[in-house]
Parts: sequence; structure tokens; C-alpha cells
Amino acid sequence: MLKVTDLAVKRGSRVTLESITLSLPAGETLAVVGESGAGKSTLIAAILGLLKPAEGEITWNGKPARAARPALVMQEPRAAFNPALNLRRSVMEPIVAQGVALAAGRLERLCAGLEMPLDLLDRRPDQVSIGQAQRAGILRALIAAPPLVLFDEPLSALDAVTQKHTARLISELQAEEGFAALIVTHDLGYAVAHGDQIMVLKAGRVEETADANTFALTPQSPYCRTLRDAAISLGALEAAA
Ligand SMILES: Nc1ncnc2c1ncn2[C@@H]1O[C@H](COP(=O)(O)OP(=O)(O)OP(=O)(O)O)[C@@H](O)[C@H]1O
Ligand SMILES: [Mg+2]
Repeated sequence: MLKVTDLAVKRGSRVTLESITLSLPAGETLAVVGESGAGKSTLIAAILGLLKPAEGEITWNGKPARAARPALVMQEPRAAFNPALNLRRSVMEPIVAQGVALAAGRLERLCAGLEMPLDLLDRRPDQVSIGQAQRAGILRALIAAPPLVLFDEPLSALDAVTQKHTARLISELQAEEGFAALIVTHDLGYAVAHGDQIMVLKAGRVEETADANTFALTPQSPYCRTLRDAAISLGALEAAA
């Protein structure tokens, strides 16, 4: 279980997150939504231990969250990779770093689910498309079966069909392996379909946290109603019957 309690984070002298509290049990998904600059990536950086909390605590099963060795899918797909290495080297890095064995057929299965031909891994990051680099980032995050995965807009560079297949692979693996997933997304339809809980961030604070169906039916704050209604009018979310 990931627990964030009364977290505040400063970047320079500015407070970028304040009073953030959440809990994410193993096997569940927390979808984090909110406007650009709201602090979503900052929250991920704090959970990874890359930014030190000014206040509050972040724990995984009572220990510092780093103990979970959380895996990250970065928001900028190519930035996740060493430009000098082929994708295979980078993708396998968590396996090598953790000294764990790669289960037979795992790489092939993940690549098939992500619609990535295996030989794509022989290329460097600048020799693949951004959407391919994004899927390689997902592959690397999941390769070593981590207990906690932080996804920062993992489907943003993918077409609708590939998004659907990739989302399905993530859900299937999560059901089998039971990792906790924190998924930042601008797609409220995806958040509601795949999230157990939805957390809306606004200007560094939690605007609302609710289970996904409750959020879709009865968002509490005016801001969240506006978000929900916009998603319905864009066709990303179904209106309640
Ligand atoms: N390296 C940095 N130094 C100082 N301030 C930063 C830095 N990175 C981000 N910020 C500021 O922190 C706030 C939160 O940024 P963050 O990247 O967490 O937003 P976000 O919700 O992930 O937005 P987006 O949807 O655009 O990715 C913003 O006001 C941003 O300008
Ligand atoms: Mg971000």
C-alpha cells in the first residue's frame, strides 16, 4: 500500500504541492487528473524520492516509498532512454540492476501486447517514433514485475487503437501480478474505465478524490463537474443513463 500523508513539496521557494493525502492499495489503480501545471509530475517525482517533501510522508507498506523500487513511465518518451544505447539495453536495465531473472517468454509477451516487433529493440531511441519510444518506456517499467508503477501520461503519443491495446496489456498484467498503479492522464474516459479511484489535482492541491464511478456520476466540486461535462461533450466519457 502506497500512502501519502499531508505532503507538501517546494520547487525553489514556490510551494507546488500542498496537503496531499492519498492511499493506493496493491492491485489497484489511482488515476490522477488535472490541468497542466497542477503538480501531477511533481507528485510522481516526490514518490520516487527525487524531490524531498517540505512536509508530510510517503510510505510503501510503512517503509520509505523508495523501498518499493517504483517503476516509472516518463511523460517525455525519449527522455527516458540513454540516447547512446539501443532500446534493448535500456529496457533490460531493471532486470540487470535488480539481479532478477527474466521469466521465459515475458519480453515476447509484453512486446506482443504493446504491438512492438522485437527487432525494434535493436534500434536507438532516435531511430524509433515517439509512440514506439513511449511503448518501450512501458515495457521497461513492467519488465521486472515491480510492485508499484508510476505512469505519467503513458498513452499520450499513441493512436486510439494502440492506446486500447496498451491499456489492455497494462490491466491484464496488473490483474495477474497485483502491482499498484498511479496513472496520470488527461483522458477522463480512460481514468474512469481503468481507475479504482480518481484524484483531481488543481494548483497543487487535491480538488477531489472519489471512486471512479462516483466521480463519473456525481462529481462534487464545480471544477470537477466542468471536467466531467467537458469529457462527455468530447465523447471521452459516457453520460449517465
Ligand atoms: N524543475 C522545476 N523547477 C521549478 N518549478 C517547476 C519545475 N518543474 C515544474 N515546475 C513547476 O511546478 C508546478 C507543477 O508542475 P508539474 O510538472 O508537476 O505539472 P503537471 O501537472 O505534471 O503538468 P503537465 O500536465 O503539463 O505535465 C508548475 O507550476 C511548474 O511550473
Ligand atoms: Mg506532467
